[in-house]
Amino acid sequence: MTNRGNFSGRIGFILAAAGSAVGLGNIWRFPYLAGENGGAIFLLVYLGCILLLCYPVMVGEISIGRAANSDAYGSYSKLGGKKWGYLGLFGIIAGIMILSFYNVVAGWAFGYFLHISFGDLLNEQDFGGFFGSFVNDILNVSSVHGLASSNLIFSLVFMMLTAVIVTRGIQKGIEASNRIMMPTLYIILIGIILYSLSLPNAFSGVRFYLIPDFSELKIQTVVDGLKQAFFSLSLGMGGLITYGSYLSKKENITSSAMVISAADTSVAFFAGLMVFPLVHFLAFKLHIDPTEIGTSGPPLIFVVLPQIFHEMGPVLGRIIGGSFFLLVCFAALTSTISLLEVPVAYLVDQKKYNRKHVVWVMALIIFICGIPSMMSQGMVAALNNLTFYKGQDFLTFISDMSDICLTIGGCLMSIFISRRWGIKNMDTELAQGNDRYMTSGVRKYLHVTINWIAPILLGSLSIVIILEKFFGIENLI
Ligand code: PHE
Repeated sequence: MTNRGNFSGRIGFILAAAGSAVGLGNIWRFPYLAGENGGAIFLLVYLGCILLLCYPVMVGEISIGRAANSDAYGSYSKLGGKKWGYLGLFGIIAGIMILSFYNVVAGWAFGYFLHISFGDLLNEQDFGGFFGSFVNDILNVSSVHGLASSNLIFSLVFMMLTAVIVTRGIQKGIEASNRIMMPTLYIILIGIILYSLSLPNAFSGVRFYLIPDFSELKIQTVVDGLKQAFFSLSLGMGGLITYGSYLSKKENITSSAMVISAADTSVAFFAGLMVFPLVHFLAFKLHIDPTEIGTSGPPLIFVVLPQIFHEMGPVLGRIIGGSFFLLVCFAALTSTISLLEVPVAYLVDQKKYNRKHVVWVMALIIFICGIPSMMSQGMVAALNNLTFYKGQDFLTFISDMSDICLTIGGCLMSIFISRRWGIKNMDTELAQGNDRYMTSGVRKYLHVTINWIAPILLGSLSIVIILEKFFGIENLI
């Protein structure tokens, strides 16, 4: 290995890549998508997408990175020529776009963590109103227990935390922080699940979540499942190329990718198992039907859950609520560091800049890019109501654009492997660290997926999303 840095071994790599995958997407987006799309049936579709498509794409990405031992741009251009380098740049830009809005939502979670831990949020009566004013005026300096706070500061602090970890490098920064945050995250998650299952009416939530309703199976369910699986596994933007480039040749990529996919899926699954019993408990307490509780979009974790923590009383509410938002912050942080590492690796590898300087400069630039998303939640009417985007807000716009970039990136990556780099070269890479690979069934399955299924499915999915988002052709599917 060169002095670019590397993971200490298999566990370090798996924890870091799983950390990148496990994020806001699992804890916040997965449960409400599952709720909207028929619960268990969504889970089945999601699992299908992971097996059929996402796992092979993940293996492909990691092998590109490890074979080239370079950042996203460097890897594509080394293995496929300068023109393919643009695909790497496209991924780097997609990563910057994602981090810009992701850090805003992470900042909200960080703010909520403080507001709940200090207890002031739990005295609220109107949680919807609180959230509305919290995200609305980003400069509004409210006070968390005497601590001046505003959304702008929360996001800035979150970005600084991310930067501090990334400056410390691969082993001492990214790997070391994931070694602490990932196990803690699992422990908190399991703890809250156990507690939520003990609440009245919890099992009605479990039933809703786990009993499939096949009448809900629509093409939209598949499109949502695929988009979500792709985002959740951090595919299509070169993040895993970058992490793969720090992986030793001794390690087995196919089995590591399996563990990473399983870890990510299990957190998404557990998040649902945590949220639905809580929602049904709230319905029970308020004597209303669970369907009356709006569980879609950001309100799920920022409005509904705080109301539930409030119902738990001042002490338990603080403990469970504080732990929950700590969990969300950890999940977000392990993802933001992987997002920041992608442009940083590019600038360090290609332009030979000093790592520390690049980290701080990139963090600042991306933080500034996030300000329009921050101001789009009510503060600036024009950003809140984009005329060219069906009156939706800027944050939603950027998040939708990222989905499109990821699927296009994944589609082109599979084309790159099958038509440019050569699937045989991928095989050679995968055989390192896995003696049985050449004769295994996994190899055949990866060939079929990467040669045919991934380009066709991801290409069509990208077109469907573009038509749906820009031309409003909802009835298309
Ligand atoms: N996978 C992360 C999540 O689920 C988001 C992410 C996407 C992180 C792409 C890195 C790259 O929240």
